[in-house]
Formats: sequence, structure tokens, C-alpha cells
Amino acid sequence: MLKLFCVGVGPGDPKLLTIKGKEIIESSDVVFAPIKSVHSESFALEIVRKIIDLDNKVVVKLIFPMTTKEDRLIPYWNKAYDEIRKNVLEGKNCVFLVEGDPLIYSTFNSILKIINEKKEFEVEIIPGISSFQIMSSRIKIPVVDGDEVLVIAPASYTESSGCRTAKLREDFPKILEIANTVFIMKAGRVINDIIQNKNGFDGFFGELCGTESEFITEINPELQNRANHYFSTVLLKKKG
Ligand SMILES: C[S@@+](CC[C@H](N)C(=O)[O-])C[C@H]1O[C@@H](n2cnc3c(N)ncnc32)[C@H](O)[C@@H]1O
Repeated sequence: MLKLFCVGVGPGDPKLLTIKGKEIIESSDVVFAPIKSVHSESFALEIVRKIIDLDNKVVVKLIFPMTTKEDRLIPYWNKAYDEIRKNVLEGKNCVFLVEGDPLIYSTFNSILKIINEKKEFEVEIIPGISSFQIMSSRIKIPVVDGDEVLVIAPASYTESSGCRTAKLREDFPKILEIANTVFIMKAGRVINDIIQNKNGFDGFFGELCGTESEFITEINPELQNRANHYFSTVLLKKKG
């Protein structure tokens, strides 16, 4: 059966792309890459271009706007799916690139739901190293051990406007009750709230981990005054 590959290209360092992922991209005819708007670049594509020559391939950028409002997103998901479907059903070797891991807060998740629903072609997903994995390996502390509990959560809730609030999620104290380790994604805008509420936990801030611009530090009030990149994650580790 005809198949789409989805490759997680890791957090930024092209050497962290798996051998299998690299081989699949190299043998593809069509490379799909998600972008936020017509004028933006694809981070996943930039990672891949550093080690794979894409000149003899068709690169198709698929728009996934930065909103969580489903009624705005659905037409883009359907358009992206139709473009992928057309190429896969023509028998071309197609690969969809995702930064980090394809199944962790990713644009590909919405496409995967349509693929699973319509069952018009097969899909094979090649995992990638996720941002929380590269961050913890840089900080060099165990993520979880024994009976410990790991939670991965976005920093804030989605507002009805489709944007994320600049406020820390209300269930944050509940998360800290059960977790030994917490990775807070999309954390750049709520650092202050995290600092105020992280009682009993050590905290680290990681931005663009695994890239040449990597910045990792213990969380501190000065982080509120800098322009934190969207690719920012906070790691909280229970003390003791
Ligand atoms: C849309 S999600 C993508 C997650 C990605 N699929 C993964 O597996 O890491 C974007 C969020 O992931 C985190 N992130 C992605 N890449 C990162 C990096 N290189 N360093 C730190 N955090 C990163 C940030 O919290 C960012 O807001």
C-alpha cells in the first residue's frame, strides 16, 4: 500500500537525526515541511538542509497558522492533507518533517488524525529526539526513576481567541502535587508565574536546546526581562 513517512528530525543539531530518518529523507521525492505563514521558514527543514541536499527533491511547505482555534485551523489541515494525499497516491516517495518528535505537540498530530480516519494510505512514523530529552541530557539530571512521575504540559491555557494566555495554567499546583519532574513547554511568557509557584522544586530554563544558540540556566527573575524564544522549555525537579 502507498505510504507517507513522517520523520522527527530532533531538536536542532542535525547529528541528532536518526540514521533511519536520514535514509528516508534521502530516498524521498517530495518533502513536506510545516510553516506558520507564507513568509516564515521551517525550522525542521533548516535542520535537514544542513546535512541532506534537497535540490533534486520537491519541497512543499504546508501552512499551519499559530492559532489553536479549530475552526480556523481545519481548512489548513484539510488543504495540507489533500496535498499530501495527491502526492502519495501518485506513488511518490513522500516524507513529512517535524521538529523534535512527531507526536509531541506537533503539527503532524492533526494530519495523523485525518490519515487514521480516512485510511487512504499507510503512514510510518520515525520518532525524533524531543526537546525535553535534549534539555535533560544537557542538564545531566535523571528525568524519572523508580516510582517517580513525569508530567509534560504546556505552560498556559488556550483562550477563546485561539491564542495562549500569558498566564500559568490554573492546575499547575495540582501537577506539582503528583509530579517529581515537570517539563513545561511554551514557557517563555510565564517564567515569573513559574518562579512564584514552583515551591519545593528546582527549576531550569532551556531555550533552543541542541542548536548553536542553545541557552540553559537555572530559572531566575532576570529571565522575565529578556525576549525568550518560542522554543523555550522549563524543567522542574522535586528537591531531595
Ligand atoms: C510545537 S512544540 C514542538 C515540540 C516538538 N515536537 C518536540 O518534540 O520537542 C514547541 C515547544 O517545544 C519546545 N521546544 C521545541 N524545541 C525546543 C528546543 N530546541 N529547546 C527548548 N524547547 C524546545 C518549546 O517548549 C516549544 O514552545
